[in-house]
Amino acid sequence: MIVKNINLKNFRNYENEKIEFSPSVNVIYGKNAQGKTNILEGIYLFSMGKSNRTYHDEELIKFGENEANLKMDFIGGKREISAEIIIKKNNKKRVFINEIPVKKNSDLVGKFNVCYFGPECMNIIKSGPSARRKNLDILISQLRKNYFSYLSEYKKAIESKTALLKNEIVDKITLDILNDKLISLCFEIIKYRFLYIKKIEEIAKKIQLEISKEKENIEIKYSSNFGIIEEFDDEKIKQKIKEKFESNYKKEVFLKEIFIGCHRDDIEYFINGKNVKTFGSSGQQKTVALVQKIAEVYLIYEEIGEYPVLLLDDIMSELDEERQSYIISKIKDMQIIITCTDAEKFKNLDAKEIKIQEGRAL
Ligand SMILES: Nc1ncnc2c1ncn2[C@@H]1O[C@H](COP(=O)(O)OP(=O)(O)OP(=O)(O)O)[C@@H](O)[C@H]1O
Ligand SMILES: [Mg+2]
Repeated sequence: MIVKNINLKNFRNYENEKIEFSPSVNVIYGKNAQGKTNILEGIYLFSMGKSNRTYHDEELIKFGENEANLKMDFIGGKREISAEIIIKKNNKKRVFINEIPVKKNSDLVGKFNVCYFGPECMNIIKSGPSARRKNLDILISQLRKNYFSYLSEYKKAIESKTALLKNEIVDKITLDILNDKLISLCFEIIKYRFLYIKKIEEIAKKIQLEISKEKENIEIKYSSNFGIIEEFDDEKIKQKIKEKFESNYKKEVFLKEIFIGCHRDDIEYFINGKNVKTFGSSGQQKTVALVQKIAEVYLIYEEIGEYPVLLLDDIMSELDEERQSYIISKIKDMQIIITCTDAEKFKNLDAKEIKIQEGRAL
């Protein structure tokens, strides 16, 4: 995947700016709060159809304006594609691919792949389960259309169940229908997550050994409502999910709250058998986060035969010199867009430098 250029019109602090990228390394630099991360957010929008920073599209529109317009030319699947996103106040976003409106905005997902690595990703190991789930969900959604649909259906069913449980008298027939739906969706979602964690783990093992000079063995495990899943047997897993829903049925109705479902699951990391979240040093946790991200990049390559565009948002300063050069050595075959406040650090990369000042590319 290669981003050729992006045009940001009334998007965040950009009035109307076209930014051209090199197919290899790009360094976007400038002082704080000038609009560097906003460019990465704009690019990210074309991969997931939504922002990585906010659920509220209106926040993306430049203050005082009514409509934001983003156009991006990229190469994906060996084809040149022009995509456009229009965000209007009080309206649904509209997406065009090669000037043709898409039926569903989610049709964009999978056409253009990115791997975003920002400061918040560095904390992915020590933060709560939702950050780890979200990261995995984004990865699988980019690769498997079905998964994205399962997640959307699941989210809707959870919303309906939440609303139903709030009623004074809970209609048991509707609840049973919703639970059956959630059980079968949980099964599909967990199956994908388990499969992809295994794939990530396989790649991460090699990277972790390399980065630790053969000292550290990493394991990544899926931790569900019914414990860590070591192997995936369809019938057994179905049975376990069902049992969990049944054993929590009365409690959920009584306390009017949902206690069960794959929206509460987690991903756990172990180094030499020890849980990284509980026992890892802060540096070790950051290294594992880095390993996870590099593994994602390679996994995308394995799955689709193309590297994603790597968006590195101000993370180099979080890494020591050794890790910085390691990451650079690992990602030299793909397009990289780095943001930083000091471009000097990347002088040896032969990068295209883009200076950003108050929403202008200089
Ligand atoms: N909807 C909006 N309209 C206008 N300006 C906005 C909007 N949303 C954010 N901004 C402005 O964008 C700027 C922040 O941009 P961004 O996050 O890209 O900064 P940055 O260059 O990455 O800074 P840092 O180095 O601190 O990470 C802020 O000045 C903020 O006020
Ligand atoms: Mg920033």
